[in-house]
Amino acid sequence: MRWINWLFAAMRTYGGGILEMPDLMDTRRAFLAHCQANLAALRREGRYREFAHLEKLSGRFPLYRWHRPDGVREVTVWSSNDYLGMGAHPQVLAAAARAVEEHGAGAGGTRNISGTSPLHVALEAELASLHGKPAALLFGSGYIANQAGIAAVLEALPGFIVFSDAKNHASMIAGMRGAKGAGRVIWRHNDLQDLEAKLAAAPSGAPKLIAFESVYSMDGDIAPIGAICDLAERYGAMTYLDEVHAVGLYGATGGGISERDGVAHRVDLIEGTLAKGFGVFGGYIAGDADMVDYIRSTAGGLIFTTSLPPAVAAAALESVRVLKRLPERRVALAERAAALKSALDAAGLPRLDGPSHIVPVWVGEAELCRQVARRLLEDHAIYATPINYPTVPRGTERLRLCATPFHTDAMIAALVTALQAVLPTAAIRQAAE
Ligand SMILES: Cc1ncc(COP(=O)(O)O)c(C=O)c1O
Repeated sequence: MRWINWLFAAMRTYGGGILEMPDLMDTRRAFLAHCQANLAALRREGRYREFAHLEKLSGRFPLYRWHRPDGVREVTVWSSNDYLGMGAHPQVLAAAARAVEEHGAGAGGTRNISGTSPLHVALEAELASLHGKPAALLFGSGYIANQAGIAAVLEALPGFIVFSDAKNHASMIAGMRGAKGAGRVIWRHNDLQDLEAKLAAAPSGAPKLIAFESVYSMDGDIAPIGAICDLAERYGAMTYLDEVHAVGLYGATGGGISERDGVAHRVDLIEGTLAKGFGVFGGYIAGDADMVDYIRSTAGGLIFTTSLPPAVAAAALESVRVLKRLPERRVALAERAAALKSALDAAGLPRLDGPSHIVPVWVGEAELCRQVARRLLEDHAIYATPINYPTVPRGTERLRLCATPFHTDAMIAALVTALQAVLPTAAIRQAAE
């Protein structure tokens, strides 16, 4: 009758009050007070996130329908990560529709519990070939691929140290933080000297992983992958490269910056998404067959979750296959991004310079950034996402623009006119200094 002893002990401790469970009520009140104070602070600082209700129109991308309480309005979206418009490619849509018809809506199980269809297997083979790797492994999203994949690697060997670029995505940081026992050293963004100094200072016998991205999503700059691989070889480190903002977009067949630079074979693990350049959904890791098999066998974020719906796998498979043979989309993206940049420059608008398709426009203050985005939407029917802390450091708030092959000259001209109207001259002058 151990539970009776426990009850008497508890009653002695809490003087009988245990039956009213006062602690439970206090916890709820404390949590609610915390939520309310936190939300008030976010609103005060102009960082409260409001999701615009935007209805994507597959035949008319990048036009969307903006749903407001007082009606619906057509707007041009300048902040979609469907960078190549593949989310509306007719072959991709047909593949998805066929798969829904043939296999239903959901996978109905984890990979291990009847959730591995031939479509999943074919997509993994296609992704492995895209990166010139022996194997690839699908995850529920790019976020989960990073979180689960990095943690699985870092927990494999005792004393693992991960060398993380300072601007790495939250999903990579989640993977590093979630890895029990691993050390983390942060190197200055894209700074090879700092990386080398930090690698040299670490114990030479410790297992090391260099984790970085190819295209950084908020600044639009690109990592020197080959030079980072040189350092990895010199210091006996493995490399983990996030190509989320590059797959489909760069390289002869859409294999990303590592393909463009001819260095994919030097990177140990390449991570990507099917949700941006490929326009669908899901994430993956590609690499050595045994490494990928090990991650498959140990990563909780893969094992304990339902696999991608067959229609998603079918659409992604078609998108990867189509894009491999569609360099015209990549050329059109580069041309449109260049046209956007030169139009902004000609109008004297403040943009962060960078070599990629991502074009940040400087604002420099959180509340102002939110207001600029709101006026663009309400007064000019243009949607551009305001990027605030913690996604970027305070004082570097910006709008994040991405041209796609479907943004016309007229859309660029309308955007420039609107930005000139809503960006305060003070912000423009400050950015120019
Ligand atoms: C660098 C980077 N990695 C991973 C992800 C997550 O990808 P997904 O949207 O497929 O979850 C993102 C998302 O934007 C990202 O920016």
